[in-house]
Amino acid sequence: MAVTFVPALAGLELYRPGLPIEEVRRTYGLERVVKLASNEFPLPPFPEVRQAVLDAVDGLQRYPDGHSSVLREALAELYDRGPDQVVVGSGSCELVYLLALAVLRPGDQAVLPAPSFSPYRYVTVLCGAEPVKVRLRDHTHDLEAMAQAVTPRTRMLVVCNPNNPTGTHVPPSEIARLVERVPDDVLVVIDEAYVEFVTADDREGSLDIQRAHENVVVLRTFSKIYGLSGLRTGYGLCAPEVREALDKVRQPFNVNLLGQLAATEALKYPHRVAERREANARLRDRLAARLAELGRATVPSQANFVLVDIEGLSVPQDRVCEALLAMGVIVRDGNTLGCPGWARVTVGTEEEVDFFLEKLATLEVDRGSACTAGKGD
Ligand SMILES: Cc1ncc(COP(=O)(O)O)c(C=O)c1O
Repeated sequence: MAVTFVPALAGLELYRPGLPIEEVRRTYGLERVVKLASNEFPLPPFPEVRQAVLDAVDGLQRYPDGHSSVLREALAELYDRGPDQVVVGSGSCELVYLLALAVLRPGDQAVLPAPSFSPYRYVTVLCGAEPVKVRLRDHTHDLEAMAQAVTPRTRMLVVCNPNNPTGTHVPPSEIARLVERVPDDVLVVIDEAYVEFVTADDREGSLDIQRAHENVVVLRTFSKIYGLSGLRTGYGLCAPEVREALDKVRQPFNVNLLGQLAATEALKYPHRVAERREANARLRDRLAARLAELGRATVPSQANFVLVDIEGLSVPQDRVCEALLAMGVIVRDGNTLGCPGWARVTVGTEEEVDFFLEKLATLEVDRGSACTAGKGD
């Protein structure tokens, strides 16, 4: 191959998403396969959203609104902002890329939590900038260390709250204190992809922080609690100048027509979001309790997934996810997420969670042995 690629690619490993159900079914010749690997919501979109999508199919010969105007207006109303303070992306992941492209130059630094959502690091490297990784402490953002990691070269700082893959949550009041300490020429990205699952008291998230600081962007998504992962729609609240910059970086029709429409419809049913939050919390608690009965430690989660200790089973920890896969359970191997010795398990339906627990139990050797507290993440 005579084509040469940009040098940054050499330093990047491929993103490994959770395997598709069909592929696992075929590979292992299984009838039942349960996917608890991508932190999707286990139930379909709201019925009204489904109907709105079906009704729109006959208009798919047209491009979508390139400015996602209706959705941006609905979000602006919900959050009491102007539409010029709302950006919409093909998933919030696209917005992470666009923000980085808008602010990072070669040689700049981005302060990132580690382990966390890997696209922050990918796009930093792609921009030729340096990821400055700040290790979590007790599986949680070390906000003090993040503040101290900021240098004159820092152009971007990311907080993921709740954090993926640990599920831990830091109170917005602590994030506010961090933001006060960060120079206002550093873009602070607060990724709240899982905020709707938070049941801790201060679940309003970082909206007030964003309102008070022009250099702060809050990212949210329709992929999780709204059950719309397949339509790739996320959004951000930001200063008008940030939105304008992203409008220059993005491709013209970045958000697909069905995603815009489904997201706009989904916003009309906040009570359903609340129901889903409660159902998720119930199942999350139940999953953690059942794992504790099996002698498995978990990291306290405010999201729709739980990090579980997988050491001391009948197969070595780095083979556990493969063993579960062979039994029809897809979970994420912590070894690929920066959490060796742990697996990340999405809160699925009750039946899916029970299926996982049943299969995990077959790998137990010594039911009494809990894992070592505080092992590396
Ligand atoms: C922390 C975090 N941010 C963003 C995303 C991406 O969400 P979207 O589907 O909106 O791109 C994910 C998806 O798993 C995530 O875990």
